[in-house]
Amino acid sequence: MPEAVLRIGEKEVSLPLMTGSVGETAVDISSLRDETGAVTLDDGFANTAETASDLTFVDGEAGVLIHRGYTIEDLASEASFLEVAHLLLFGALPTKGELESFVGSIQEHLHVDSAIRNVFSAVPQDAHPMQVLGSAVAALGGHYADDLDPNDPESVERNSYRLIAKLPILIAWAHRAREGQEIVDPIPGADYVANFLEMMFGDGGHIDEQEQIAAKALDSLLLLHADHGQNCSTSAVRLVGSSGANLYGAITGGIFALSGPLHGGANQEVLEMLASISEDGGDVDKYINRAKDKDDPFRLMGFGHRVYKNFDPRANVIRTTAEEVLNRLGVDDPLLDVAVQLQKRALEDDYFVERKLFPNVDFFSGIIYRALGFPVDMFTTLFALGRLPGWLSQFKEMKTDSSNRIFRPRQIYTGEPKRAWLPMEER
Ligand code: SDX
Repeated sequence: MPEAVLRIGEKEVSLPLMTGSVGETAVDISSLRDETGAVTLDDGFANTAETASDLTFVDGEAGVLIHRGYTIEDLASEASFLEVAHLLLFGALPTKGELESFVGSIQEHLHVDSAIRNVFSAVPQDAHPMQVLGSAVAALGGHYADDLDPNDPESVERNSYRLIAKLPILIAWAHRAREGQEIVDPIPGADYVANFLEMMFGDGGHIDEQEQIAAKALDSLLLLHADHGQNCSTSAVRLVGSSGANLYGAITGGIFALSGPLHGGANQEVLEMLASISEDGGDVDKYINRAKDKDDPFRLMGFGHRVYKNFDPRANVIRTTAEEVLNRLGVDDPLLDVAVQLQKRALEDDYFVERKLFPNVDFFSGIIYRALGFPVDMFTTLFALGRLPGWLSQFKEMKTDSSNRIFRPRQIYTGEPKRAWLPMEER
């Protein structure tokens, strides 16, 4: 068995090495504290694998992303969002019959109890859509109190179908409630993404040609966001689920982790950044210099990644899709030009090159969402919709993993050593 040898003072311990299916190596430190009394310290878990997983492999140096062996480029050009959802959840691309059955299982759950709509009237108009979506998903879980056992694989599968079916409805309801519009019911049997667009922007009658073009683009975007290893929000889903909490609680945790501007919230930040650069005369050099200035809190949103030290392959696909969609919809968005210029300048600048800062999945996605008519502050709800199959698959994998233990990291205490009580009169 290959091993690593660690010496701490006079003590030397051997730690087993684990090799993944594509050659990655991990040092198994499960026995470290028992054998040495020491723990590891790893800021942001940048060097720590929290689990082994069969779902997704990201090679940050090479800019490679695969789901169960299939490259994101092949999936983006050949598969649909629900095909990728099936791949992640069940380990294989579905046959035609399996896909029909999978879609059918989702469509069985297109009803959402109207009581959930009280969530949208319980918050002020300016509540952020991610805040509202997380509240709605948490409330949704309350409607299945008799079917929430996270250790029952059939219940987890049923609730996975429920969430895939209802999340787009909740997003659309939140939007229409804020706009003061009547809700539109999903059209039974209609395409998943086209139905979502109809519920968002339509009148519930039929799905027109423009909506079909938009649906194809959005389907591809959702697919590109489906899973990405142990990112912040997925780790949140696993951590919450590891205590035995139910699936709705875990997904709610994922939604709020994703809402942060350093994670899924970046797609909204990018659009706002591009708009302010455009309003400021389009001087990209000024903003490149601001991003490099350590005294300036400004960051180039949509750039940089904890894992990718090369192009994020999703960003490449999304940029191509953005150009295609804007052409097909006849939309001329000056912010795309600003984004292209910004990318070009950054990739020529030593600061970004030395730190291997490349565009990530969030850099171009907002251009498409905006062209499809989504309000900027709803962009991250679309990231959540795309990431849902990944969260569900990671939760399922965690629950079926025999070594599934509650997440409980250690720490190094740096506070006051034990000291005597200090009476009030002596303080
Ligand atoms: C997503 O993990 C995933 O897989 C996430 C995701 C997924 O699919 O789930 O891919 C989705 O979250 C993409 C990332 C979206 N976030 C952003 O675009 C926000 C802007 N980017 C960053 O804030 C940053 O790059 C992170 C948060 C993405 C990564 O942060 P790290 O790995 O902790 O890197 P760091 O902050 O330590 O930065 C290293 C250096 C620093 O400079 P030095 O101290 O070495 O001089 O790079 C600099 C940083 O200042 N830097 C940036 C920068 N990102 C990093 N400088 C300017 N602009 C930036 N965007």
